Amino acid sequence: MSTNQPPSVKQPEERKKVTIQLIQAMKNRCEPISMLTAYDYPTALVMDQVGMDIILVGDSLGMVVLGYESTLPVTMDEMIHHCKAVARGAKTALLVGDMPFMSYQTDTAEAVRNAGRFLQEGGMNAVKLEGGGEREETIRAIIRAGIPVMGHLGLTPQSVHKLGGYRPQGRDAEAAYRLLEDAQILQDAGCFSLVLESIPGKLARLVSDRLDIPTLGIGAGAGCDGQVLVTHDLLGIFERFTPRFVKRYASLAAEMRRAFDEFKQDVREGAFPAAEHTVEMSDDEWQCLEERLDLESSDFVISDRMTR
Ligand code: KIV
Repeated sequence: MSTNQPPSVKQPEERKKVTIQLIQAMKNRCEPISMLTAYDYPTALVMDQVGMDIILVGDSLGMVVLGYESTLPVTMDEMIHHCKAVARGAKTALLVGDMPFMSYQTDTAEAVRNAGRFLQEGGMNAVKLEGGGEREETIRAIIRAGIPVMGHLGLTPQSVHKLGGYRPQGRDAEAAYRLLEDAQILQDAGCFSLVLESIPGKLARLVSDRLDIPTLGIGAGAGCDGQVLVTHDLLGIFERFTPRFVKRYASLAAEMRRAFDEFKQDVREGAFPAAEHTVEMSDDEWQCLEERLDLESSDFVISDRMTR
């Protein structure tokens, strides 16, 4: 094993594929669950190497990778494209594909078909969708088709316009009570886990204690069964805004700027490429080429060509 690998890195043969049953067993054993978002092959590969429990191909893709203002424009085809790349990289993490806006809200049959695409084409193991009781029938239908579903309550970004912005949810007793009810409905409908986004820590702990299924918190305090962050926030790649609940583990945008700037300077000053970055021909081959060029420039060669 190379020295720059953290101690948690295990060889692939030491790790078992993470299943929804294993995620449930982790909750039962009070073992914290880690989930991060990924949208491409190399990131998924590295996450798998450190033994990430769950990789979510989130529709946050739209904002942190594709540059949209919100997650609303993200399409099924865009999600599937990125799911495929992640599935090529990650072989042991549980892979969850995020159903984009309008892929499950209008029609149950269409929702089941779209959920199916995440498994059949995207190589995912489960799907995630946003919403509470209003999604019950859709969730039941998707699960009846054999597709595990992760729920998502609290700040649900696909409802940003209904919620009036990206603001914490469940802060008054009435809203908190409704969220508890929704959480119970999602569990009863068969969800295998639940994301709780941007809700008070006390409420998230209560939901987590009441439910049998694991909760994954993002901006929901330490009382959840696991934690999830958007990887581009954690790595400091996405600088447009950083939610208060994010912990930055790196400043990669700054590091990228430094590297790109250094490359630009090197090119300008002729410092790149150097000899070690350049392929050369053997002296013999070079001599042959020179001889041939000499011959071709003679009259003989020119007249020879004209007769062909
Ligand atoms: O799209 C996403 O990345 C998400 C996480 C914030 C849970 O839904």
